[in-house]
Amino acid sequence: MSSDTTRKRVCVVGSGGREHALASVLGRSADVVVSPGSPGIPGSVDTDPLEIDADLFVVGPEAPLVDGLADRLRAQEKLVFGPGADGARLEGSKAWMKEVLAKAGVPTAMHGTFTEVEPALAYLDTMPEFYVVKTDGLAAGKGVLVTHDLAEAQDAVRTYLSGEAFGEAGRTVVIEEGLTGPEISILAICDGTKAVALAPAQDFKRIGVGDVGPNTGGMGAYSPVPVATPAVVETIMTGGVQPTLDTLRGMGIDYRGVLYAGVMVTPDGPKMLEYNVRFGDPEAQVVLPRLTTDLVQLLSEAAAGNIETIPEFTTDAMVTVVCAAEGYPMSPVKGPTISGIDRANALGGVEVFCAGTGGSPEQLTVNGGRVLAVTGSGPTLAAARERAFAGVDEISWPGMQYRIDIAEAASVAAAEV
Ligand code: AMP
Ligand code: GLY
Repeated sequence: MSSDTTRKRVCVVGSGGREHALASVLGRSADVVVSPGSPGIPGSVDTDPLEIDADLFVVGPEAPLVDGLADRLRAQEKLVFGPGADGARLEGSKAWMKEVLAKAGVPTAMHGTFTEVEPALAYLDTMPEFYVVKTDGLAAGKGVLVTHDLAEAQDAVRTYLSGEAFGEAGRTVVIEEGLTGPEISILAICDGTKAVALAPAQDFKRIGVGDVGPNTGGMGAYSPVPVATPAVVETIMTGGVQPTLDTLRGMGIDYRGVLYAGVMVTPDGPKMLEYNVRFGDPEAQVVLPRLTTDLVQLLSEAAAGNIETIPEFTTDAMVTVVCAAEGYPMSPVKGPTISGIDRANALGGVEVFCAGTGGSPEQLTVNGGRVLAVTGSGPTLAAARERAFAGVDEISWPGMQYRIDIAEAASVAAAEV
């Protein structure tokens, strides 16, 4: 434990549930400010990060990273955890990410990149099973269509490329073969040269129970993940993340931040679906609280280019359930008053992270699509799941929606081992 005189000051940039989880876990050993944060996140300040004095900056979301915030902070000689705009392009352009994967020799789905409708439609016709159409640029997690319906895929190609569906982000599309298998998220902490894996997580992308309906930013997550055995994680690190980091380095990119590997464990082995350049949301809400090593130390080392700390985790499992606004993900209804957060937090083994909250700290209101992430912990996934849902049961507002099947299958599978 550091004494008060050596206690560091950390600035977390962002305002979602991931940033609340970062602030909570960094706050175990440092004083934390969150910019801009939200009424639900303690330590929130209405000050531009470039005006803040802190020993370490942790940039949460992808948009400011792609926009070069980490570069601007580094230009002020600040210690920053988060890639510069050069590395953040991995998430900012799926077409470029695929080029990096090819250079690094990382297994991924067969794919092509297109800016014109006719060749894109011709390529769709060659896809073996089902169709995946992605916007090249950022689309808040909504720019990916996975479908068995060729007409729907063709329609997506047309509306993306015309700019109608996602503006500039869609004017280049990546078309991929559809892969099958369980998906896992490996968040790797990178110092420019070396990468260390955090505990695996799995998230739930679709809005509906049973993985139906449109994609969302993520409706829940859990960790550990029974299918993500140490051998699978090792394969992903040595065959995916490390070669990617080496390739970036060879291109002159000093990548200090999270490389979030979105992986599908296919019958032919793990394949890289995507990279994100930041912690997953809501994966952060289950992975970070499980850390038993000091996150301030780990991220400071990574930011300084020299990781020595090996991250360790409690054997306790964690499950987080996202409570979303009515109408999410299409048109979330903002404004209702939220009740029960204090009661949920007062239950043992429950922590509520605020994702899209407005109003005031005394009276929070719905102010986003994903509003809260309620994390439960326990000795097994089943126990953690029970705690998370006990927390959710305390919380309400008109139209609140959540998935009742978060971590259900994994809890059963883990119990049968
Ligand atoms: P991405 O943003 O690229 O991870 O895509 C979002 C989601 O779409 C992924 O989490 C998968 O569930 C799904 N997806 C992406 N690529 C593929 C693919 N090649 N095959 C099957 N599903 C995919
Ligand atoms: N949970 C998925 C993401 O953070 O992109």
